[in-house]
Amino acid sequence: MNPDTAVERTGMLIVALPGAAQLAARLARLLRCDWSELWLHRFPDGETLVRIDAPVKGRCVVLAGSLHRPDDKTLPLLFAADAARDLGASQVGLVAPYLAYMRQDRRFNEGEAITSRSYARLLSSSLDFLVTVDPHLHRWQSLGEIYPIRTQAIAAAPLIARWLRSHVDNPLVIGPDQESGQWVAEVARLAGAPWTVLTKTRRGDRDVRVTLAGHEPWPGRTPVLLDDIISTGATLLAATAALKKAGMAPPLCIGVHALFDADALQQLRDAGVTRVLTCDTIPHASNAIRLTPLLARAVRAAASGTPRVNTALT
Ligand code: R5P
Repeated sequence: MNPDTAVERTGMLIVALPGAAQLAARLARLLRCDWSELWLHRFPDGETLVRIDAPVKGRCVVLAGSLHRPDDKTLPLLFAADAARDLGASQVGLVAPYLAYMRQDRRFNEGEAITSRSYARLLSSSLDFLVTVDPHLHRWQSLGEIYPIRTQAIAAAPLIARWLRSHVDNPLVIGPDQESGQWVAEVARLAGAPWTVLTKTRRGDRDVRVTLAGHEPWPGRTPVLLDDIISTGATLLAATAALKKAGMAPPLCIGVHALFDADALQQLRDAGVTRVLTCDTIPHASNAIRLTPLLARAVRAAASGTPRVNTALT
């Protein structure tokens, strides 16, 4: 537990999910509360025991951790939420800077699960509130459509725009597909830059085609490819190739969530992009934009029962 007692401490307790100690410590410092790492034991038979090593009774317990590679994290999360409630927590929340399972938002093939909805039901059954950053909202308009609990979605757009304003001359903000239009338009508006989106067709996990519809050369502009998620890198690689084919300069790539599978970052570098940078929702070497202060504000609002839809834009 954080031993700092010099400042007046609030009753909240942040519990770090596996791998999220740094996030929990930062949030606890900003929220002036205690934090503790979730103790976890894997039995030889593959089952898991969790333990919260801090007093819980009467406190608002906030589990903290990004949900990339979610399958191994979700059961410990649910067990911890259940334990917190059992031990008398006044409420139980989750701050997950990256929220998993948002992309399967319809049944693309007969018989498939709509996992965004299933996952939302699962988490909502154990939590009172959820705070996250730029969830992948495409066919769902808002988290409230699938999460019946209090939710707060922070937008990274203002901080990405601020970074662009101070680091890039004359940017042209480009989204690799139609659904990126929502983030791209907002970042461009806040950065005072023009924007456009490309057309993407996905044929498989790593088989992505991207084309420029109407080609405008945008002389004097620095191309900035912006997407919410960089996973295999296939989307940004295909977009980079499309820009090159159109005679544009090598782009700078910005992603909100650095999922980065295997050698995705190296492949982007090999393709000639000038730089790849991300927000710190998932710890990664490319992190350049820090969102923790916004997360802390959002957690405070969500815990007090007055969540606003988008704290970063207000
Ligand atoms: C999908 O619609 C998302 O917005 C991203 O474009 C996608 O998840 C990126 O994945 P990848 O890097 O594997 O192409």
